[in-house]
Amino acid sequence: MTDRIVSAIREGRVTPQNVSAAQVLGFRAATDGGFERLNRGCAVIRSTEDLDQYLWSYGRMVAAQWAGVLEFGLLQNLPFERFDVTDVGCGQGLSTTLFLDHVKAEAARGRVLASIVGGVRLYDASPHALRRAFEVLRLYRVSVKAQSVRLPQVPQPAASALPRVTILSNILDIEGFDLNSLRQSLFAPGGRHLVIAVSNDRQVAGGGARVRQFQSLLSRHHRLLACESKAWEVQMATRSTQVVAFACLMES
Ligand SMILES: C[S@@+](CC[C@H](N)C(=O)[O-])C[C@H]1O[C@@H](n2cnc3c(N)ncnc32)[C@H](O)[C@@H]1O
Repeated sequence: MTDRIVSAIREGRVTPQNVSAAQVLGFRAATDGGFERLNRGCAVIRSTEDLDQYLWSYGRMVAAQWAGVLEFGLLQNLPFERFDVTDVGCGQGLSTTLFLDHVKAEAARGRVLASIVGGVRLYDASPHALRRAFEVLRLYRVSVKAQSVRLPQVPQPAASALPRVTILSNILDIEGFDLNSLRQSLFAPGGRHLVIAVSNDRQVAGGGARVRQFQSLLSRHHRLLACESKAWEVQMATRSTQVVAFACLMES
């Protein structure tokens, strides 16, 4: 099935000039049985329709979560002049899109984004999600690499002189992979990192407890220079949802 966003990029309707998270959210669409197939956001996404459905069911919620995350002092005043970005469980790249919109608006101050962001590395198990994420994020005119992975294994990134921003958006709460193994494969000794994690704090298996567990693993195994965390309620049209998030500046 054709990817509606990739088609819109090919046809010049989504461009480097107008790309944004809001633009991506405009492609939300529901399909029969789509909500159930997403399995509360825990499923590995199997089709481009399910990507549209994810935007329909969860896109505005993810944007609302990130509005809260972007209030952290560490994101208002980014600690690095220039950095790489790694998005783990990136899906269609919505969280990095929201983050890059923020960097463009707040940190660029006349600089082009490519002079701030060295490269973006995307990891997910879904080839459909990775393809869309790659095509959207390339429009930000930064170097993008996408790779299919099965968590907790993540390839060690090539050595880079740049510090790294690692995004863990709505992935740590999913059960089925070991959090300490993920930490070990993400953070080889010797780097500087800003780690940003956010998830719903749902009252079922997994949930916010895993986010808090990952944060405590970071504090136990790495040198934390600054850390902020919070839990709050996001009000959506028909329901409200409890969200947990943290941002930690650390040396690995
Ligand atoms: C809830 S979505 C989060 C997407 C995005 N980070 C966001 O905040 O909108 C979870 C993503 O994790 C991927 N995923 C789920 N389990 C995975 C696993 N074991 N290994 C790699 N990716 C996985 C799914 O394909 C999906 O794209």
